[in-house]
Amino acid sequence: MAVILVTGATAGFGRAIAVRLVKEGHRVIGTGRRADRLDALRRELGDAFLPQVLDVTDAGKVAALPETLPADWRKVEVLINNAGLALGVGKAQDSKLEDWKTMIDTNVTGVVEVTRAFLPQMIERNHGYIITLGSIAGTYPYVGGNVYGATKAFVAQFMRNLRTDLLGTRIRASTIEPGLCGGSEFSNVRLRDNQKAADVYKGTDPLTPEDIAGTVSWLLSLPPHVNINAIEMMPVCQAAGGLAVDRKSD
Ligand SMILES: NC(=O)c1ccc[n+]([C@@H]2O[C@H](COP(=O)([O-])OP(=O)(O)OC[C@H]3O[C@@H](n4cnc5c(N)ncnc54)[C@H](OP(=O)(O)O)[C@@H]3O)[C@@H](O)[C@H]2O)c1
Repeated sequence: MAVILVTGATAGFGRAIAVRLVKEGHRVIGTGRRADRLDALRRELGDAFLPQVLDVTDAGKVAALPETLPADWRKVEVLINNAGLALGVGKAQDSKLEDWKTMIDTNVTGVVEVTRAFLPQMIERNHGYIITLGSIAGTYPYVGGNVYGATKAFVAQFMRNLRTDLLGTRIRASTIEPGLCGGSEFSNVRLRDNQKAADVYKGTDPLTPEDIAGTVSWLLSLPPHVNINAIEMMPVCQAAGGLAVDRKSD
């Protein structure tokens, strides 16, 4: 059973992943900014869960994390880069630059820095697995997807390029790219309005955080010679919407 680090374990996918992996016998280090949520998870999951308050945009703390973990938690075999967010649904021309920067700092720089912090020990042991949460927004453009989608395209390509650099090692890298998923705080954070967030899922049967946790569990169950590069998953009620044309009337 492995020591697994899950970023963003205070809510949504990260929480469900932590719960599932502890139930499957792993030891999980869960990070996030909200200490109370992490403490509650520790009470729920017991000694197999180690809470670590961490803002992934704090470069110094991220770099120091591997050495500041308790000695028997330092050999992180699986890193799950899950912490991330979308802010706003406005068109690019109507979006706030601050929101764009926060998404880039969290979804791009945060993922790069956390990965860089744990890669050397994986290389040293020639053993490890990095799973990153992308999104269908990284593949399919939609109105208001602008910088969020671009950050998810970045992480998908980062994982593909990691695979290339890691060829010859026994370290694996995968991206999970979900579509519409309810049961998390994603839309509450994005829309900053709980009613509008609830409306996103009205009349739908979306993916759930448990579906994502199940996918992580399946990836970890595969034999060590198998690398799934990417998984794109949507609920049955969702499909890609096609191209748009702007036609002027005569
Ligand atoms: N839900 C969807 O429809 C969907 C679809 C595709 C992809 N995704 C991706 O899946 C991942 C998880 O999303 P979710 O739906 O589970 O969202 P969520 O419920 O809002 O959870 C996001 C998690 O990220 C953490 N986080 C955000 N900013 C952070 C920071 N600066 N430092 C540390 N932790 C931070 C949050 O913890 P704290 O606030 O406590 O720090 C929280 O635990 C994200 O990368 C998201 O982009 C979501």
